[in-house]
Amino acid sequence: MKECKHLAIIMDGNGRWAKSKGLPRTAGHKAGADNVRNIAIAANELGVKYLTLYAFSTENWKRSADEVGYLMKLPGYLFNVFMPEFMERGFRIRLIGDIDGLPEGTRKVILKAAEDSKNNTGLNLIIAINYGSRDEIRRAMVQIAEEVKEGNVNPEEITEEMISSHLDTKEFPDVDLLIRTSGEQRISNYLLWQIAYAEMEFVKESWPAFTPEILAKCLDEYSHRDRRFGGRNE
Ligand code: FPP
Repeated sequence: MKECKHLAIIMDGNGRWAKSKGLPRTAGHKAGADNVRNIAIAANELGVKYLTLYAFSTENWKRSADEVGYLMKLPGYLFNVFMPEFMERGFRIRLIGDIDGLPEGTRKVILKAAEDSKNNTGLNLIIAINYGSRDEIRRAMVQIAEEVKEGNVNPEEITEEMISSHLDTKEFPDVDLLIRTSGEQRISNYLLWQIAYAEMEFVKESWPAFTPEILAKCLDEYSHRDRRFGGRNE
């Protein structure tokens, strides 16, 4: 069985899920946060080692101030309610994105979750927050340019591995499988470098309705894919 070490998910459709039930968009986000717990537990049980979830993109600031404010409070809710369980299960909270650009309260909460769980050796639950792949690559380029300017690096030493080692994901393997919920078939500036050879699955269910059973189906489908990484199977 082909293992999916790194699963990345675009948790789309919270708003539509809420609307279909006559609820405000924020209720969809809250249900989405609750589902983070369910799916993280299921992914762990299905053998995933790295689970990266797109919680807030660099483009999401364009939403209404109310919605942005609500989304910024959700990590507080998530970790207040579920952190004891995450700790019990050995989950390690990791962060990617421009963390310095977050409101102080949000930053503190997520940094504390990462710090409190830093010695755990189970599932790496990676929260992409204020994350945009182009921004991540830009920040890596700035760092590399500084190193060249200081004379510590020659341009010919800039290899693919070297670029990877300057990304927020430097401690994680490339993505094996990317799932997007809610029927949209877009990448939305997510992990562009890291999905170079990822398999993709687009499911019709919205994120709050995405169940452990659907996840298991996705992973089963993935395990039957023939991954050639640009080579050929003779
Ligand atoms: C996309 O649905 C979802 C988001 C922009 C937010 C994702 C956040 C969560 C699932 C909850 C919090 C998670 C953590 C880790 C704290 P949408 O609002 O674009 O849905 P729509 O396309 O139906 O409007």
